[in-house]
Amino acid sequence: MPQPTWLTENARNVWRPYTQMKTAAPALPAVRTEGAHIHLADGRVLLDGVASWWTAAHGYNHPHILAAMRAQLDTMPHVMFGGFAHEQAYRLAGRLARLLPGDLDHAFFAESGSVSVEIAMKMAVQYWLNRGERGRTRFLSFRGGYHGDTLTTMSVCDPDEGMHAHFSGVVPPQHVVDLPRDDAGEASLDAYLAQHSGEIAAILVEPLVQGAGGMIFHPPETLRRLRRLADKHGALLIFDEIFTGFGRTGSLFAMQQADVLPDIVTLSKALTGGAAPLSAAVARTHVFDAFWSDDPQHALMHGPTYMAHALGCAAANASLDLIEAGAWREDVPRISAGLEAGLAPCRALGGVADVRVMGAIGVVELKQAPDINALIARFVGEGVWIKPFGRVVYLTPALIAGDDDIARLTGAIVRVLNEAAP
Ligand SMILES: Cc1ncc(COP(=O)(O)O)c(C=O)c1O
Repeated sequence: MPQPTWLTENARNVWRPYTQMKTAAPALPAVRTEGAHIHLADGRVLLDGVASWWTAAHGYNHPHILAAMRAQLDTMPHVMFGGFAHEQAYRLAGRLARLLPGDLDHAFFAESGSVSVEIAMKMAVQYWLNRGERGRTRFLSFRGGYHGDTLTTMSVCDPDEGMHAHFSGVVPPQHVVDLPRDDAGEASLDAYLAQHSGEIAAILVEPLVQGAGGMIFHPPETLRRLRRLADKHGALLIFDEIFTGFGRTGSLFAMQQADVLPDIVTLSKALTGGAAPLSAAVARTHVFDAFWSDDPQHALMHGPTYMAHALGCAAANASLDLIEAGAWREDVPRISAGLEAGLAPCRALGGVADVRVMGAIGVVELKQAPDINALIARFVGEGVWIKPFGRVVYLTPALIAGDDDIARLTGAIVRVLNEAAP
């Protein structure tokens, strides 16, 4: 099929994500999205199994989100947040405070997930400085974790995923340890923290699912263990709900399954239903209060140019309307059952190490890393967009995906992995 000229003429001018530009095949030219589908320039239509990196929770081009964005576009696409307030951001902050459990009431907006994690980390360090404790400048995070690609967020990712060795001397050293999954794990982390607690500003974790680090699940009890240990050793606890937030795991926020409150939570991805970039680091009142002072030095010294982007906030408010309407509460268990049934045959395939499902997340973990590009090409041949990484082939479809969509996605995985089975 001929490629569009906008792609061929400009391909070398665009630096693509995670891509060896010399050897990679051209990216697929997308020209339109709708519902759970991505239309390509040559007329092919792909059923999206990953909701554009887990953002498009209500499907693409949702009319309610588009209408809200169009109305905002006509009046004020954006205005700088330093010095100005606008209705969309203020309403959004109030709604997030009401939707999040406990006193997670104070939102600091940014434009990407990584930046919101950076802000949460900076908040944690300055929280201690404002309280007069100077030594707490490091973080404790977990193997298998992923929190972003900027230098500081890389430092709290899994050491391999975060390429700590590749960037050694540049990525700040942190404490990256195993998640405490049982009493022995809790006791050993307790002992570790006893040695290092004076230097730890916060413990940072993705609650229930470590996403980009391998789609690894842990039980709610692990979060209760972390809360206990954070309290015992005086560290703050940060939950990164950038992937898990807004229904993906079956509850509105993953933390609600453990009935545990972090001190700070980060949100992004499905926050706008995938229609615009936006993120937030939301703090509890005792964190906010540590910055509330007559001393200007105690202010949170951060302010991204596009923070609280008005168009993004309008999309997020519309997305929250859909969340509050609540169809996802039936859709997620329905999708979960479809993923469970559809992926079950993979358990019998050679080369499959594990099949697991939580909420609207379905995972087939392989024993060995496959040829990812070959797998993706086969999936595209099947008319589906599924993007494995590492040893993991997974589905995180839009929460509006129908039963037939889930059957098509899981059927493609079973067929393609069956062909590739050793
Ligand atoms: C849990 C988690 N934190 C942070 C990030 C980084 O977000 P962004 O890619 O928007 O910077 C991601 C992205 O996948 C994520 O899954």
